[in-house]
Amino acid sequence: MSSSVSVVNEGGVAIVTIDNPPVNALSFHVREPLMQALVALRDDASVAAIVIACAGRTFVAGADITEFGKPMQQPELRAIVAALEVIAKPTVAAIHGTALGGGLELVLGCHFRVADQGAKLGLPEVKLGILPGGGGTVRLPRLVGAVKALKMIVSGTPIGASAAHGAGLVDAVFEGDLTPHAVNFAREMARKGGPFTPVRDRDELLRGTDLASFDAEAADLAGKARGLEAPIACAQAVRNAVTLPFDEALAAERALFVKLVASDQSRAQRHLFFAEREAAKLPGKDVVKRRVARVGVIGAGTMGGGIAMAFANGGFPVTLLETSHEALQRGLATIEKNYAVSVTRGSLSEDAKRQRLAQFKGSTDYADLADCDLVVEAAFEDMAVKKEIFGKLDAVARPDAILATNTSYLDIDEIAASISRPQDVLGLHFFSPANVMKLLEIVRAEKTAPDALATVVDLAHRIGKVAVVVGVCHGFVGNRMLAARGSESEALLLEGATPRQIDEAFTDFGWPMGPFQMGDLAGLDIGWRNRKARGLTAVIADTLCEQGRFGQKTGRGFYLYEAGARAGVPDPEVEALIRDKAAQMGIVPRTIGAEEIIERTLYPLVNEGAKILEERIAARASDIDVVWVNGYGFPVGKGGPMFWAGLEGAARIIERLEHWYRQTGKDVFQPGPLLRRMAETGSWATDATG
Ligand code: 3HC
Repeated sequence: MSSSVSVVNEGGVAIVTIDNPPVNALSFHVREPLMQALVALRDDASVAAIVIACAGRTFVAGADITEFGKPMQQPELRAIVAALEVIAKPTVAAIHGTALGGGLELVLGCHFRVADQGAKLGLPEVKLGILPGGGGTVRLPRLVGAVKALKMIVSGTPIGASAAHGAGLVDAVFEGDLTPHAVNFAREMARKGGPFTPVRDRDELLRGTDLASFDAEAADLAGKARGLEAPIACAQAVRNAVTLPFDEALAAERALFVKLVASDQSRAQRHLFFAEREAAKLPGKDVVKRRVARVGVIGAGTMGGGIAMAFANGGFPVTLLETSHEALQRGLATIEKNYAVSVTRGSLSEDAKRQRLAQFKGSTDYADLADCDLVVEAAFEDMAVKKEIFGKLDAVARPDAILATNTSYLDIDEIAASISRPQDVLGLHFFSPANVMKLLEIVRAEKTAPDALATVVDLAHRIGKVAVVVGVCHGFVGNRMLAARGSESEALLLEGATPRQIDEAFTDFGWPMGPFQMGDLAGLDIGWRNRKARGLTAVIADTLCEQGRFGQKTGRGFYLYEAGARAGVPDPEVEALIRDKAAQMGIVPRTIGAEEIIERTLYPLVNEGAKILEERIAARASDIDVVWVNGYGFPVGKGGPMFWAGLEGAARIIERLEHWYRQTGKDVFQPGPLLRRMAETGSWATDATG
């Protein structure tokens, strides 16, 4: 008995309860007493059956991720599962909340699994750059079949209790307090009598595996792995479960686990796991948050509509405001169409669609925003327009309402200073499509009140966003760094690279798409308008826009999109235009390799990130990583630009930037103090972060 594991004997059924808040991770101080308890119960004649349950909000959510990368203390999870599996009395796992990773592997060591209706079961290890290392790849296929296990393990997405029941992973689903049901279930199994077959010996489903279709499915999944090693290893391990004897497959799983857990990719993905949780933390935890029951959104265009959907999806009633009845109807019709598409795709039920649409109230009258606790302005990106809107809001909004702007670039301090309650003003920078993209940059203005900030951080979590608090500067964290990348991409075109070459260097690096594909998708006119407002130019992109080539939506941008195709093809006209412009500027084209493309675009990105940290626009380097992975597609396996900079070495980044500045005739590269310090210490810690 320990404080983490307790045992009670209820009329011959032993209930083993794991209690390791917050998520019952299988830390050493759980594993050791758990193993002792199981060994004791195995030999205890007064015990006819065993139930494994958890205290608190969830069943075991996995191995303790903080222990990875350190010497593993015995007993390991594998040994516990093996000890559990040889117990001759019926063993039953009682699952509430989530049984994830090592938690699910533990229950696969039991003869039976029962769950409450809200339970979720899965093996999400792939998201940490590893594979299940406690026998999950070898046991799960024995219960649900190889192809189903492959999909679950490679995606890492958990399934609900009823789906798990249907798949054969769970034996019974109960309503209400689960433990008494699990005890009755265990008692009934003991009464019926054994022998009870451990999962390792249940080979029936595996014998029926069609290896050809398994391989086709695995190849399809591998094609989507974008350079990540873990999904490939997961597929290999599940295949081993089909083709190798149990113990050999288990040993192979172990070997793959050991290799992956030590890899940079897994270190990067574990870094991101903790970085996302860290980013949500604000100093002064005890701040009393404001109540938010209704949200107002101003502007029903692409951005406003998406933001309104994000709140409605999170269960909030939304008042959607437009300037005219026609614009409002257009916006509402688009929202309805978007939900209908989700129904067609099967990701939303007709009933859920009706419920979400019922959350919307349309209006053209600012007075209708008077009962909103949060109003998000998503109008045209123009300071005068924003100030006018905030003036109107100042007049109608309730006294404690939070007033947010969805600006991507504008000075929020200036907006706040234009009204009588600057303490209620902040930025909520959503990413398009706002109902889909995870990232939310929450911009703290100079006078934003701590309770307003804490309220929106909490709210962001409630609507499923990954929130990062940033300070005010042009473009905040993400778009400011993007600008540093963008200017080098243009320069590379003029010096001889093609859009496709640059985009391929990016996709080979692990990005879902390159900068020109992204520009074409987002619409080149957005950047053009923004440059014009700031008196900036980008010779190639500006010329394309002058020719009406705005990207995918006009069928032409950096690429050609024939007949509405989503994938563009290189356009000889664009390549000729680039050569002409270069000739006019006296630039002689040369061959440019992928390494140069990456160094010249991503090292300046890191340099800008370092400046952002120095200026305290971001609180931590890991916050910048969270922004870039969730908002811009920086490859997860590289952990975000600041983590990746650590792998590259800041000294190398400085040296190469000095080199490229010299080569391209720029001023001498001057690294900031933080980049210099990173080169010396290997840490991004600032005075503020310690
Ligand atoms: N190990 C260590 N700490 C963990 C943890 C884990 N497996 N899972 C969660 N935590 C910590 C979080 O870091 C957070 O700590 P903090 O409060 O100090 O920031 C705290 O627990 C609460 O976590 P969340 O904020 O994420 O809580 P939620 O309620 O939003 O989500 C959850 C709960 C769905 C369980 C989510 O935490 C989660 O997905 N956890 C990770 C699950 C996972 O990946 N499991 C596999 C682990 S690897 C493994 O098992 C290997 C095995 O095959 C050998």
